[in-house]
Amino acid sequence: MRQKIVAGNWKMNTTLQEAQSLTAELIGMVADEVQGDVKIIICPPFPYLYGMKSQLGKAARIEVGAQNCSEHASGAYTGEVAAGMLKSLGIPYVIIGHSERRQYFLETGKQLAQKVDGALANGLKPIFCCGEPLEVREAGDHEILVKRQIEEGLFHLNTEAMKKIVVAYEPVWAIGTGKTATTSQAQEMHSVIRKHLADKFGAETAELVPILYGGSVKPDNAQELFSCADVDGGLVGGASLKSRDFVEIIKSA
Ligand code: PGA
Repeated sequence: MRQKIVAGNWKMNTTLQEAQSLTAELIGMVADEVQGDVKIIICPPFPYLYGMKSQLGKAARIEVGAQNCSEHASGAYTGEVAAGMLKSLGIPYVIIGHSERRQYFLETGKQLAQKVDGALANGLKPIFCCGEPLEVREAGDHEILVKRQIEEGLFHLNTEAMKKIVVAYEPVWAIGTGKTATTSQAQEMHSVIRKHLADKFGAETAELVPILYGGSVKPDNAQELFSCADVDGGLVGGASLKSRDFVEIIKSA
């Protein structure tokens, strides 16, 4: 049985005070309502990571992730945050290659592979994102593109390193648009990704890698999406900013 994971990507939202109240609400609701061993991760903006670690404390079953890290280890890269810094805060997860990073910050496959290496070298687990824009889906090239993204970002790893990766398939046309992939579209792509990983790393490793779906996951579609054989949970944007919605999504996993 693969680990079920629900991760919330807060993106560039919330003030410190809003982040603290949202976290406090989640701690209470998760303790009262969430059963089973679904892994819960929240990814707030960088400035809140340290405080959030202590707000959550050791007991809370919510883990913290960063939304990005630099491909460089340290040095004159103004405004960047290194994986080693996240390690020093005790942050266990980092999102790498989110489509917004690829699209607005022009992050390349080579750069993302370096970020994956930097994260792993510091003991962080990458949540590696892939997914096709609308025009690529309409042209029927989505499988080719997503396979290439996986190859560029992950195929240089050895099997042991691959076992530490979480993959998130997020069709760009579904992110923040309210348009969710159908269960058959999601299952189809997740199985393409798992097969591609199996061809490279072997079936045993591919079976262990959690593949999350992202793109307008909401309380009313989460259960259906998470019931697909190869969908192991979700990476949730907008709905992770509302405690009630996020907890309902967690309960669906
Ligand atoms: P969304 O974002 O849930 O708001 O569509 C998902 C993501 O970008 O991770």
